[in-house]
Amino acid sequence: MDPKDVEKLIKKFSKDESLNFLNEERFEFEATLEEIIKVLKSKRLDILDGLAHKEFETQFAEWTGVKHAIFVNSGTAALFCALRAKGIGPGDEVIVPPFTFMATASSVMHTNAMPVFADIELKTYNMDPNDAIKKITPKTKAIIPVHLAGMPADVDPLVEVCKEKGIFLLEDACQSHGAKYKGKMVGAIGDAGCFSFFPSKNMTTGEGGMITTNDDELAEQCRVVRHHGESSWYVFARLGWHLRPTELSAAVGIAQMKVVKSNNRKRQSAWFYLNEQLKDVKGIKVPEVPEYAEPSCNWWGGLLEFEKLGFKDGRSMVNALNRKNAFTKILYPEPLYMTKVFQDGDSFLPYRMPRHKTGLCPNCEEVNKRLIGIDTHPRLMKQHCDFIVERFKAVAAGER
Ligand SMILES: Cc1ncc(COP(=O)(O)O)c(C=O)c1O
Repeated sequence: MDPKDVEKLIKKFSKDESLNFLNEERFEFEATLEEIIKVLKSKRLDILDGLAHKEFETQFAEWTGVKHAIFVNSGTAALFCALRAKGIGPGDEVIVPPFTFMATASSVMHTNAMPVFADIELKTYNMDPNDAIKKITPKTKAIIPVHLAGMPADVDPLVEVCKEKGIFLLEDACQSHGAKYKGKMVGAIGDAGCFSFFPSKNMTTGEGGMITTNDDELAEQCRVVRHHGESSWYVFARLGWHLRPTELSAAVGIAQMKVVKSNNRKRQSAWFYLNEQLKDVKGIKVPEVPEYAEPSCNWWGGLLEFEKLGFKDGRSMVNALNRKNAFTKILYPEPLYMTKVFQDGDSFLPYRMPRHKTGLCPNCEEVNKRLIGIDTHPRLMKQHCDFIVERFKAVAAGER
């Protein structure tokens, strides 16, 4: 991201222009109401009958810079639908990072394929492309890099390898609407991208998800899988599922398209302000922004150097920070492969889960112990950030 741009954002944020948010909140509310009323008046509440989802899909595809967007009822559904549409299933392996929300890996298990874990980079907390490439076997059918917290993962090395080996490259952009990698929107780099519209994300439809792709055949198959595998009227060509969202969710999505860019700008302002204010505070290591990245700043994540302040672990430092409601939390406290279902497997699966052991992904395990997240939502103002920064400074100065 251009440092001059970052400087401007911080300056603007420091003047507390974020206090204008009340007008903008009203605009967002009224735009949403207007779109919902349109759908209610149409009396077409489902996507088999209604047209709002098509408008939302067209707008989202244009914004992301892809040919097709397919609206589904969650980010998890988007991942599952794209994998099934591509024919991923039993006997296949799919490489995922262990530092992510559960759904990145569980969507793979729901296709009956097996998730294989590749380590993350310490600087972005995202999948290390070199480790992912090392984990490729003849069974590897897909790789899912996650653009975590609005920070694009380094995907170019994977693009090349996946093309060469015919591996499906699926970007999990569930936390990164509007983020750019080398000037290109995430979700438009691999063979397909998946987004979530859960309320904590950069934009929301209440619940919902989107698949983005330039591949005509894949887009068609995603639409088929989304609706019970039906290829034409009552012809059920393949096994699908009910992954349809409602037209009312699409209405909320259309209104969100009007505000997502300015909301992302606000997220960036708070994120870079926090980063600047915390960079010299003892006991916290702030994240680096790689040159290739323009993050959309879903949340800010720093690493606790708790030993430097005499704490025994990250949790006790977080407790000290939160004693006055600084609202920080340790995010993803365990690598996915150490959680019960990835250890024991599930009777639904056609394979036994390999016995994953500590040490499989050392960078991830290091970050699990230390990473705290702060939601950089559009309503986070300078005064909130200053309060959080003050808490860090107080704890660094010995307050417990
Ligand atoms: C990285 C990631 N992938 C997938 C998902 C799943 O999205 P949803 O909750 O909409 O199913 C989430 C949601 O939290 C996520 O953060």
